[in-house]
Amino acid sequence: MDVHSWSRPDRMRVRHLDLDLEIRFERKMIEGTATIHFDRLSGDELILDTRDLEIRAVDRAKSFGLGAADPVLGAPLRIRPDDGADRVTVHYSTAPGASGLQWLEPAQTAGKQHPFLFTQSQAIHARSWIPLQDTPGVRVTFAARIGTPAGLTAVMGAEMLGGNRFRMEQPVPSYLIALAAGELAFRPLGPRSGVYAEPSLIERAAQEFEDTETMIGAVEDLYGPYRWGQYDLLVLPPSFPFGGMENPRLTFATPTVIAGDKSLVSLVAHELAHSWSGNLVTNATWSDFWLNEGFTVYVERRVIERIYGTKREEMEAVLGRRELDREMSGLPSSDRVLHIDLRGRDPDAGCTLVPYEKGALLLRTIERAVGRERFDAFLRAYFDRFAFQSITTADFLEYIRRELPNDVPLEPWIFGPGIPAGANEPHSDAFARIEAGDTSDSSSWNTHQWLHFLRTREDADMARLDHEYHFTESGNSEITAQWLLMAIQENYRPAFAKLEQFLCSVGRRKFLKPLYAELMKTPDGCALARTIYAKARAGYHPIAQATVDAIVGS
Ligand code: BES
Ligand code: ZN
Repeated sequence: MDVHSWSRPDRMRVRHLDLDLEIRFERKMIEGTATIHFDRLSGDELILDTRDLEIRAVDRAKSFGLGAADPVLGAPLRIRPDDGADRVTVHYSTAPGASGLQWLEPAQTAGKQHPFLFTQSQAIHARSWIPLQDTPGVRVTFAARIGTPAGLTAVMGAEMLGGNRFRMEQPVPSYLIALAAGELAFRPLGPRSGVYAEPSLIERAAQEFEDTETMIGAVEDLYGPYRWGQYDLLVLPPSFPFGGMENPRLTFATPTVIAGDKSLVSLVAHELAHSWSGNLVTNATWSDFWLNEGFTVYVERRVIERIYGTKREEMEAVLGRRELDREMSGLPSSDRVLHIDLRGRDPDAGCTLVPYEKGALLLRTIERAVGRERFDAFLRAYFDRFAFQSITTADFLEYIRRELPNDVPLEPWIFGPGIPAGANEPHSDAFARIEAGDTSDSSSWNTHQWLHFLRTREDADMARLDHEYHFTESGNSEITAQWLLMAIQENYRPAFAKLEQFLCSVGRRKFLKPLYAELMKTPDGCALARTIYAKARAGYHPIAQATVDAIVGS
């Protein structure tokens, strides 16, 4: 049972979707039909999830009705299909404020000429643009026709057949259904990979992501074939609320990872790794989210090690470990566990660094305990055994106990808070030198070293640091976000113009959250947060708006 869905797939289970949708920019609305193909298991009711959808009609149904809307879950659409019918067609339209859609004005794009739309379905926002069984425990194939205004390109995380037609023949969970439309160019990166971006960005994007094909080869070498055919990236406008989203065949990515020096491409390794951990073997419920993200961070680091070397991997592991501690120190112990209780809560509440970094640390600890060779063979067999299935934490536990008995105590890791004794401790010599105050080689430091340098500062003589290293002028989004956080803490005013500009142009939640939260700690900061947010809010994604509303007070 998935507490985040009204659907009862044990009664009637959706198998396939046929979408015929029109994108109407002028009304900020998608409208059309979804034909829902289902299997009958018991009873005579098909229940779909919806949020803020207007349902016009349902074909091949005796009756249908929307139930009362729950603030987290949305409203159930209960349908009694005609006797013997194996599909129904829902005629519907989306609401302008649909939580899974962001409608951008031309001014919010790089080209400034055309509007832009993108979806973000994870965790439970697919239901705000398609009526479906919105649980990761149900997988569907789909086909789609998408109408767009002339001059705009529509793309989906699916096989692109041309003529605005799309097809996904491998069954995927609803949170991976994705669509975008805008003025887009495409550049191949390899025989089965490429990048989409607005025309003015496409060259820089192709440069930044030129190692993508090598990364695909690296994961295949470790864990078996890439099973989705094509792997493309779509660079979105800066309001995209996440770093990346692993939509099958088409990762959605923030432009803030284009740093010019590939220093932030672990994001590509991460989203690509989801093609195995997450998209192939999927968390059955959002309480099992660590099966998606913990495994993915582990695989991401293995890819980084192979392509960019051990030293860089160690740095990324240490940065992750330290950020985990920092975040955990502010979490209640019930949120420091891997298998998290989300009853009555938004699944977003579970999206902390715990499933990511604690999950990856568990796998790393097991790997070190049993040896890399055995662990690699285990993981490869795991992806094979559960390919195209959705599994729970209990399924994983049963599988590893049978296939890879080992001495790491799994219960405390999965059900207990914090980091159990015996955890592997990532270490970087280069970072140790920074901690010892050695800056003699700083002219050759990479982004990771600069981040560690800033995060381990005890004195923060901001003016001197800025004078010496020009942090306020940095073009690297991670360094900028860290520097601005310190600028707020130290009330370093020369960086405040940059702070405002950053918050008004970037909508990535990971950056917004700590900056607004830090501002809210003082009366002056609070006033500044409100002033900036009043200007910035309209440009944020509905999910980011909800996050910042909760921090700043709307
Ligand atoms: N699948 C996640 C993004 C996500 C998680 C969206 C939960 C909605 C709900 C994606 O793979 C991810 O983890 N992105 C990270 C970047 C990554 C390099 C850690 C992000 O967006 O920051
Ligand atoms: Zn992820």
